[in-house]
Amino acid sequence: MRLPALYLSRLLPEPVMAVIHERFRLTAVPAVDPPSRQALLDGLREAEAAICTLTETIDDAVLSLAPQLKILANYAVGYNNIDLNAAHARGVIVTNTPEVLTETTADLTWALILATARRVVEGDRLVRGLQWTGWAPTQMLGVDVWGKTLGVIGMGRIGQAVARRAAGFRMQVLYSGRHPVEGDPQWEFRPLHDVLTESDFITVHVPLTPDTHHLLGQQAFAYMKPTAFLINTSRGPVVDEAALVEALRAGRLAGAGLDVYEREPEIHPGLRKLPNVVLLPHLGSATLDTRIRMGMICVENVQAVLEGRPAPNRVV
Ligand code: GLV
Ligand code: GLV
Repeated sequence: MRLPALYLSRLLPEPVMAVIHERFRLTAVPAVDPPSRQALLDGLREAEAAICTLTETIDDAVLSLAPQLKILANYAVGYNNIDLNAAHARGVIVTNTPEVLTETTADLTWALILATARRVVEGDRLVRGLQWTGWAPTQMLGVDVWGKTLGVIGMGRIGQAVARRAAGFRMQVLYSGRHPVEGDPQWEFRPLHDVLTESDFITVHVPLTPDTHHLLGQQAFAYMKPTAFLINTSRGPVVDEAALVEALRAGRLAGAGLDVYEREPEIHPGLRKLPNVVLLPHLGSATLDTRIRMGMICVENVQAVLEGRPAPNRVV
């Protein structure tokens, strides 16, 4: 039996690889690291289907060299790495991996909220560096998370999962977005300005689009309380990183927890020098279970399209 030609841009967890090897013929050997542009083009040339990740830019020039391609399954919920208009114009179906990573990403968002407020990473550095001289009443005092106000910008699936967890911390939840959502009646739908001025922890869960690029910059930081923390597990360019460094340096914000950056894997040099910032390497969906589920969803979407069925997670 002739197996369909699949381009897989990166190595996925083993259980997903096993299924892929059984059902497809790979056009290139996937690696842990991102492919070069040339390797991407070579891999796509003969491919009928592709599974790509957020580090691969798929623009019209790339698609123009992939004449057999019917489906591009993005191994992510966000798909700002793909030119959707170009894909649509060329008849390539694009799919993503929603839902399976919602709770996992919400968990990591909370890891950042707690780590920034309670100085978890700083404390670890102190102990590891053999600088700890013992308990002291005034040592490394952080701020309470419980009972504070959580501001959620973008109340999609992930924003709501983050907000649900706030109930356990007895927090008030304010949110902004395109429209009010069903959910906990205690959550308050408010203009972005109010969310910024009134919240103690502000967490961003919008997709990256031209409208959300630098949504949080100098103006937003000026609105925020100087005691407030900014958390970003969405996409780096939603935050103006240079403006964030400025605001943190000037003490206009209390701290930040970041999982994503404007030019990954580059980090603004100013961020690394700030003690009140926790920096993670884009780990939002990074649990084994979730990364396996994301892979299985990509495989399902690819198979559906190749067999002439509707793709369950079609975005265009
Ligand atoms: C990861 O960042 C994703 O969009 O799934
Ligand atoms: C992602 O699934 C979102 O809607 O936030």
